[in-house]
Amino acid sequence: MSIRSAAAIARAFASGGNGEKYRLLPFYIRKDGLWRSPEESAPVLDRGTPDPVDDVNGGGDRALRWQFPAAAAQVDVWFPIVHGPNGEDGALQGLLQLANVPFVGGGVLGSAVGMDKLAMKMAFAAAGLPQVAYRAVTRDQVWSNPCVFPKLCEDIEAELGYPCFVKPANLGSSVGIAKVRSRDELEKALDSAASYDRRIIVEAGVIAREVECAVLGNDRPEASVVGEITFKSDFYDYETKYTDGAADLFIPAQLPDAIAEQVRQRAIDAFLAVDCAGLGRVDFFYVEATGEVLINEINTLPGFTATSMYPQLWEASGVPFTQLVDRLIQLALERHGATP
Ligand SMILES: Nc1ncnc2c1ncn2[C@@H]1O[C@H](COP(=O)(O)OP(=O)(O)OP(=O)(O)O)[C@@H](O)[C@H]1O
Ligand SMILES: [Mg+2]
Repeated sequence: MSIRSAAAIARAFASGGNGEKYRLLPFYIRKDGLWRSPEESAPVLDRGTPDPVDDVNGGGDRALRWQFPAAAAQVDVWFPIVHGPNGEDGALQGLLQLANVPFVGGGVLGSAVGMDKLAMKMAFAAAGLPQVAYRAVTRDQVWSNPCVFPKLCEDIEAELGYPCFVKPANLGSSVGIAKVRSRDELEKALDSAASYDRRIIVEAGVIAREVECAVLGNDRPEASVVGEITFKSDFYDYETKYTDGAADLFIPAQLPDAIAEQVRQRAIDAFLAVDCAGLGRVDFFYVEATGEVLINEINTLPGFTATSMYPQLWEASGVPFTQLVDRLIQLALERHGATP
């Protein structure tokens, strides 16, 4: 997914007026942390698939992980396009901040808070944004003490009921997420989520339409039109997300004007609540039966292929893909203080 987003963004830097304005140097970061030079990275972009890595945690290339390709010194602005842990959670952003170079998107705080579903929900609650009922669970509660576990499950049943959703706090792409309808499923889902993350969140399930809004800007961000995702599967799980044709996007979403406006305003509030910058896609549950708009999450590095929601929402709001990447570079420079 990261490579597909990167390839779409690379094409946008070669088209329109961008071709004369920018020179693109791709850096592919292998799963084991090894950085590739632009010459080595270009084929990965063209091919669209990752380099094989024999041993992600292995020691073979360990010394090389402390070396960056020489071409890195030529870069004026970085555009991190690594979805998920390490790329979207502040780790890569911290490295770039330490090097004192401008980069696209949120900084360490915004990225980290946006990645951790528990920290994110706390920030949203503090900003007064309505969301589903939820509770935090730790791996320790699930695994360490057989006396605590049944009580934990009872509490969850009493507080949240069924169906509820069990999620590792820090993964994304619906990995490790389970919709559970019984005690047996709850126990299994908690055990599975604990294998992915020390921090787990359990949420009350809602019956709702899923609507999303794209945000662009720094301290005074703007919101796009609202889009909707529909699918036939039970929920928007990993397979539905990455199977062509399994989900449909509707832009703009068919919503009452007041609801669309509420979504747009809350998207901006959410963006500011977690200290996001540059770009962010904010996802909501619209409970049609009650008229409630509940915030689900913010993605600080949303999918960015030509058919992804984020660029399509801006396209529909009058900002074509080529202009969007240009705006993001300008916002990165502005935030870094490099422009007058
Ligand atoms: N509380 C809930 N009630 C109803 N459906 C839910 C709930 N939580 C999650 N879902 C369903 O599961 C899907 C995935 O959940 P969520 O968006 O929280 O995680 P994620 O997609 O893995 O995160 P990311 O978007 O960062 O990759 C949602 O799009 C929705 O279809
Ligand atoms: Mg999601």
